Amino acid sequence: MAVNVFELERVSFSYRGVTALDDVSLTVPTGRRLALLGANGCGKSTLLRILAALYFPDSGSVRYHGAPLTEAEFEHDSFSHAFRKRVGLVFQNPDVQLFCPTVFDEVAFGPLQLGWPKERIRQTVNEALDYFEIADLRERAPHRLSGGEKKRVALASVLIMDPEVILLDEPTAALDPRSQSQIVALMKSWESLGKTLVIATHDLHLLTEIADDCLVLDKGRIAGRGTPAEILADESMLLRANLIRPAC
Ligand SMILES: Nc1ncnc2c1ncn2[C@@H]1O[C@H](COP(=O)(O)OP(=O)(O)OP(=O)(O)O)[C@@H](O)[C@H]1O
Ligand SMILES: [Mg+2]
Repeated sequence: MAVNVFELERVSFSYRGVTALDDVSLTVPTGRRLALLGANGCGKSTLLRILAALYFPDSGSVRYHGAPLTEAEFEHDSFSHAFRKRVGLVFQNPDVQLFCPTVFDEVAFGPLQLGWPKERIRQTVNEALDYFEIADLRERAPHRLSGGEKKRVALASVLIMDPEVILLDEPTAALDPRSQSQIVALMKSWESLGKTLVIATHDLHLLTEIADDCLVLDKGRIAGRGTPAEILADESMLLRANLIRPAC
């Protein structure tokens, strides 16, 4: 297995003139948990979408397990299916992710696409619904749920596929304390399972539990990288990147 799941070299990306990522180079080592930190609008979600190959850089390159990850690769169905199965993204805003008529269908969607046997789908979906405490919502329309309920459905629908690489965009935002603890426990368990995790978060107090490494973005550029302890100790960098408030 390659040492790095992803290697980005000098990646820049703009939305019609709005620069979101500017000359970003980074590696995501296999089996490690990387936290993406930074103020609103610094480019965390954009970076996750690049890793998920939903967007492709305007300039610079992305490698996945050592091979170039370009739009051309996704013209081959076999590559596209394998990548989408192995790399799962839970969006910051669940509304862009949820589209099925019921919660059960939403969580079953991925397994159905992969052609799992019916009985396995039923059993695994029920387990996921129980785990995320959304079993009583199974017949409800996902777009009519509360923000936290939607988030749990979105998490269940991605995690049921057991991806090797899990990209989480603010997974604990909008969740109540018990749901937050569950997600934190999951993120901790992924360490021993060898999963690769990239997580955008504003929750600095969770860093030491959920991440091995942190990357700080500031206006689309990398402002720092280090272990949670190193990043949390660098007060001036945290202030510059608008991650903490100045003392009154
Ligand atoms: N669809 C879009 N169209 C135009 N500009 C966008 C779009 N999405 C994001 N941007 C801009 O790109 C930049 C990076 O946004 P991004 O969503 O990646 O930031 P973020 O770090 O995830 O922020 P947050 O903490 O608020 O979620 C911002 O300047 C934002 O306004
Ligand atoms: Mg974001």
